[in-house]
Amino acid sequence: MQPHTEHTEHRAARPTWRHDGIAFGCDYNPEQWDPEVWPEDVRLMREAGVDLVAINIFGWSQVNPRKGTFDFAALDTVMDLLADAGIRVNLGTATASPPPWLTTLHPEILPVADDGTTRYPGGRQAWCPSSPVFRRYALALVEQVADRYGSHPNVELWHVSNELGCHNALCHCVESTASFRRWLEQRYGTIAELNRAWGTSFWSQRYDDWAEILTPMRTLSTRNPGQVLDFHRFSSEELLGYYRAEAEVIRARSTAPITTNFMVTAHIRNLDYFSWAPEMDVVANDHYLDNRLADPTTELAFAADLTRGIAGGAPWILMETSTSAVNWQPHNIAKARGEMTRNAAQHIARGADGICFFQWRASAQGSEKFHSALLPHAGTDSDVWREVVELGALLDRLDEVTGTRVVADTAVLFSWDAWWATDADNRPSHSVEYLEQVHAAYTALRATGASVDVVHPDADLSGYRLVVVPALYSVTDSAAANLESFVAAGGTTLVTFYSGIVDEHDRVRLGGYPGAFAELLGIRVEEFAPLRPGDEARLASGATAKLWAEHLALTTAEAIDAFVDGPVPGVPAVTRNEHGSGAAWYLATAPDAADYRGLVARIADEAGVGRPVGAGPEVEILRRAGDGRSYVFAINHGAEPVVIDATGFDLVTTGSVDGDATVPGYGIRIIREEAA
Ligand code: GLA
Repeated sequence: MQPHTEHTEHRAARPTWRHDGIAFGCDYNPEQWDPEVWPEDVRLMREAGVDLVAINIFGWSQVNPRKGTFDFAALDTVMDLLADAGIRVNLGTATASPPPWLTTLHPEILPVADDGTTRYPGGRQAWCPSSPVFRRYALALVEQVADRYGSHPNVELWHVSNELGCHNALCHCVESTASFRRWLEQRYGTIAELNRAWGTSFWSQRYDDWAEILTPMRTLSTRNPGQVLDFHRFSSEELLGYYRAEAEVIRARSTAPITTNFMVTAHIRNLDYFSWAPEMDVVANDHYLDNRLADPTTELAFAADLTRGIAGGAPWILMETSTSAVNWQPHNIAKARGEMTRNAAQHIARGADGICFFQWRASAQGSEKFHSALLPHAGTDSDVWREVVELGALLDRLDEVTGTRVVADTAVLFSWDAWWATDADNRPSHSVEYLEQVHAAYTALRATGASVDVVHPDADLSGYRLVVVPALYSVTDSAAANLESFVAAGGTTLVTFYSGIVDEHDRVRLGGYPGAFAELLGIRVEEFAPLRPGDEARLASGATAKLWAEHLALTTAEAIDAFVDGPVPGVPAVTRNEHGSGAAWYLATAPDAADYRGLVARIADEAGVGRPVGAGPEVEILRRAGDGRSYVFAINHGAEPVVIDATGFDLVTTGSVDGDATVPGYGIRIIREEAA
């Protein structure tokens, strides 16, 4: 995959993250424990092979116990213990959560929800991203931390705050409102331009002055979609500005690389990480299996592929994950034995050069006491600990993989802008959610065995054979032109329904759907015809379709499949259009998983996409390569053993493989390829 040029330019002048091999790390919160426990912690970290530890993440109330007082004695001790043990440090700036003295002294820093009510301290991250007062205190703390440890030789990486925007991304307080107005003024220049962008002639919403504009507060009816969309953009940029401010303070005092932990995950959507990534010295992501979803393992794969996409293809760090259950889902499912290792392999196969966990030792108190850890409540006589030690040894053997890049010949386009715009208050069907449609397409593609990059719609697509565009409702002219040139030059695309409908202002592209892609796809849609929840339609091929249908007419495309019944019997449901030297397919409905997979497999074969022997819905096979090295990762999530093609040395079993290798049920193989 070609990195964004933007990434390369930004990165050039800045430090890069270097670790000796694949990092094995964790969050360490020694402040929750008696100092007598610390030497034992460090001894066990060494036993497990942990070599990168994040500390001082939630340290504010400890290192700055009251206004103007700083006490680094405990942190100094922990720093020394880790340095003496040869364990590198990922140093938190401690600003993740303000201490009670600060919110007592300055309650105006507290965030305000869209109904105007304050969110109080007592949990975490109770601060407004636009608050100048919060920023003043936070940066004063960062100065202290960076002055003290900025040239410490054991600081490998700086960890700004923690999961910025996890809880506080959207604030509606007076400071946020003022800042939103300033942002809008910069974006639009004149109030007339803002009125045009938001379509405020509708429902008498015309603004006469910037001072009349509010953040999208809770209303009686549905809110202006342009205002909501811009508020998302503003909120993402506002927190990025905050990150930048902390990073500047550190940069002036340290040459170590700086990052923060992203949340590329299914349930958080407030930050546009494509715009954040160029400002990170290394991209780091937190990912937890989400057992509320139908297929958490595939969501993990998608999130990891997307993390690599936002990193421009460069290696990245899994900054947090869990050894077993989390504590914040309604039902916190423990991992099966071996699942943690498979999950870790999934991330490494997708470009992670570090696997870190939340957290080192399971807490005895506080909200997260039932969250799993490397060292569980049960102690070292536990299956979790034994698997942790085995994982540490495996990661050591994988050190040679570091720096290689994932090889993929298909891409899925993804956009936070489209996510925010699609899931608006009013839309043709509330059963059509952006991420679900992206996941459905990705699931079908992954199940065919294809290796998938998840990239921004403006990314360089020239290296791909197939580009899938799921439900890209909102698309800019430049992104539409990007896809068109890819196909004209011989690429194959599959665009799915509810794509190309509006521009970046959520303004409908007139003249028939799918607006931006109508010519490329050789079709014209007069009207949507969504299905009721639970209803199904049949296609001529025998496929079952749900959620969506539309009054579609062919202009230059041919019909490949058609609705037999449902709201539009006889109307094409799958079309194919030759365009330039390539082909543009369109899917006008949501097929069942097996039918979706069949369609995508057909298109992948037509496009010449690589589909390794043995890969399928339960078996992932990916390749990382570079500098003359090449590694095949095979991860079997099913009970049945599977045979794959490979020749070389297996870093899991430490044995040679000649021509083929069996991946046991629920097992993994990671093979350094050698010519047969
Ligand atoms: C996030 C946070 C951690 C912890 C974990 C629990 O990743 O960054 O502090 O709360 O979730 O899963």
